[in-house]
Amino acid sequence: MQEIPAIIERVRRASSSSQRLDIVLDKAFAQIEVGPGQLFLARTTLMLDPLLREPWTPVTRDQAQLTVELPLGKEYTPGQYVNLIGPLGKPIPLRETMRALLLVAIDATPASFLLLANAALARGISVTLALIGGAQHYALEMLPPEVEINRAESLAAWDQRDQALKWADQVVGVAPPPYDTEYYTQLLDMCRAARMTVPEGFCYGLFQPPMPCGIGACAACLISCKGEDVPACLEGPAFDLVTTLRGEATR
Ligand code: FES
Repeated sequence: MQEIPAIIERVRRASSSSQRLDIVLDKAFAQIEVGPGQLFLARTTLMLDPLLREPWTPVTRDQAQLTVELPLGKEYTPGQYVNLIGPLGKPIPLRETMRALLLVAIDATPASFLLLANAALARGISVTLALIGGAQHYALEMLPPEVEINRAESLAAWDQRDQALKWADQVVGVAPPPYDTEYYTQLLDMCRAARMTVPEGFCYGLFQPPMPCGIGACAACLISCKGEDVPACLEGPAFDLVTTLRGEATR
């Protein structure tokens, strides 16, 4: 995790609700490794106002350039300076031997899956993305064309669910706080209903709480995992749901 100066090179509208920013990292950091799911905390002013940095998760990476996807609303301009802290956390684990990856976005943008989906496709893994609830409105043209799409109003109304969960070798969900635990509990229950067993390492959820410090110092992003509280900014964002939801509530 490092502090990285960067410049916004390009800003473009990506859909009716989102924009994409191409960001060029300072050349001293051009080779920095960024894994699927890892994120940066960004500040676009030279002042400490606002105090809380914005979480930016890359959707693509091309040498010194990162692309992030953000909601419309805040304006950014080409040439604008950005100070990044990151990359935070650990890459989302991808099993060595697998043929089918199932991604489930529940009332959340699937943007944080895009690096993972592309890494899986590059390995010849088939990728299915279920867009549930509010995620149904995500613009499909922003996804790799090889990704198979399921859509449903809710997890309960997802009619391809059992088949998708049976065929998957690994499942990763994303849902917004504070509803993440509730949705992930439902997702894990559905995995258990569809399969004989759900081993550790099969079903992950991305936990994306506010991260004021990003260095494991403030305890604002603690997730209970295997009976211990661990900071999502260091150990997340992906947590194995079999161990994290053992018991019940995570925060
Ligand atoms: S953001 Fe401070 S401990 Fe994670």
